Amino acid sequence: MARKSIIAGNWKMNLLPSEGETLVAELKERIRIKENLEVVICPQMALVPLALDWIYDSSIQLGAQNCATERAGAFTGETSPELLKVLGCRYCLVGHSERRSLFGEVDTTVGLKAQALLSMGITPVVCFGETLDQREAGTHLTTIDTQVNAVFKLVEQTGWTRLVFAYEPVWAIGTGKTATPAQANEIHRFVRGRIKELAGDIVANATSILYGGSANATNAADLLGEPEIDGLLVGGASLKAADFAQIIASF
Ligand code: PGA
Repeated sequence: MARKSIIAGNWKMNLLPSEGETLVAELKERIRIKENLEVVICPQMALVPLALDWIYDSSIQLGAQNCATERAGAFTGETSPELLKVLGCRYCLVGHSERRSLFGEVDTTVGLKAQALLSMGITPVVCFGETLDQREAGTHLTTIDTQVNAVFKLVEQTGWTRLVFAYEPVWAIGTGKTATPAQANEIHRFVRGRIKELAGDIVANATSILYGGSANATNAADLLGEPEIDGLLVGGASLKAADFAQIIASF
């Protein structure tokens, strides 16, 4: 099974409706999406229903940034994966490092969210990655292994080939410090190897692994040139139409 290539923009908690609308309009003018590439925008939740209109008549896909582990019920402030489905989301980020560090999200929650999304036919983009301390202490592979392992433990086997992962070293997010293409490729190869052990060859070869962390118009082509990097998860640079379009053109 050929792996899906994905370039996703994580808008985080940025952009008001008028700004989002202008950004998408500019993107639609600038980009030509090649075959085999999925371009996804992930606006903050309240913009999602508006964004569905903005992307109309384009091949840009819609994603969310977070969801609940449950389908419905007394979970004040949460967003149901079922609602995301109805609102047109094809993708949803889970376990972003900001969710983990600022909102106490743990590996188990990440795995349950991934399962909840898969049960609604939404592709989870499971983020993982080490902190600077962990890298300097040489424990980064153990951290990554634990994060990836938890997902396979909690996601039913029928969903394994539909998982997407994103390697986002915490020290590279929003810092302007990118992992070098070789550094990222090495981690992606390690993770694919672990997926092979956990889930077998077919799943490992089908799983897209994106890189995220200060990806931009200048470094995108080199990162995408690595054999194990199947796409990019872009934060800051996805907020500027010219930059995001340039990244998409690098594919
Ligand atoms: P950045 O963010 O591209 O601004 O580093 C990436 C992310 O957090 O997904």
